[in-house]
Amino acid sequence: MADLLVVEGLTKSYIGPAPGSPISILREVSMHLQAGESLAIMGRSGAGKSTLLHLLAGFEKPDSGHIQWEGVSLASMKESAIDKLRNQRFGFVYQFHHLIEECSAIDNVSLPLRIGSVFAREARQQAAAMLTRLGLEDRLEHRPSALSGGERQRVAVARALVHRPACVLADEPTGNLDEQSAAQVFKLFRELAMESRTALLLVTHDHSLAKACDRLVVLENGKLTSVI
Ligand SMILES: Nc1ncnc2c1ncn2[C@@H]1O[C@H](COP(=O)(O)OP(=O)(O)O)[C@@H](O)[C@H]1O
Ligand SMILES: [Mg+2]
Repeated sequence: MADLLVVEGLTKSYIGPAPGSPISILREVSMHLQAGESLAIMGRSGAGKSTLLHLLAGFEKPDSGHIQWEGVSLASMKESAIDKLRNQRFGFVYQFHHLIEECSAIDNVSLPLRIGSVFAREARQQAAAMLTRLGLEDRLEHRPSALSGGERQRVAVARALVHRPACVLADEPTGNLDEQSAAQVFKLFRELAMESRTALLLVTHDHSLAKACDRLVVLENGKLTSVI
């Protein structure tokens, strides 16, 4: 079976504040991910986990190395094609929700579908169904400011999943969730992985969530090490 994601020899450094040698963040990182597979990435703060996700999503360019999504090299794609890939094939969840304050929960979750040209009525139906799966059926018309932190994060998860992306890139997504909500979110990931072969790249400090993934890697000194 073809890999969803193939990464080879990814290297990234940043120029530090003081003049002199650049700070090396990633050193020849290689990894792969198959459709529907979940991979947890752990590592201490500052290890480069967010940098790795930014590179994979094409927000930043590596110094060297290759990233291939569904057999196509990111480096060969125009910015417009990378935008399209992000909108249609990826879902993003961050530590903080990044919802649009002026929009209700259902409108926030409809957004990825509307960007993908789904009609408004159909988009709202699918958004309502996804919010319901996350236990938010009574919060559809609430604005983010009228929701609790955990509820907002579940809305953000619904938005990341509603268009059934090929891969969800989640950067410490459950930092603000209680244990029960985190487990509910993870269960939903599992179901969608089965239904729509949505893969998950999960950066987390939560050991129990990490162990529940198909594979676990640790980023340390710019290198990835497989744990399971
Ligand atoms: N745009 C940037 N310019 C310079 N240094 C950066 C930049 N982004 C991140 N870094 C540095 O790269 C290192 C890794 O950051 P990050 O990927 O955010 O780590 P993590 O997500 O594992 O906590 C940190 O030391 C951080 O200060
Ligand atoms: Mg980070």
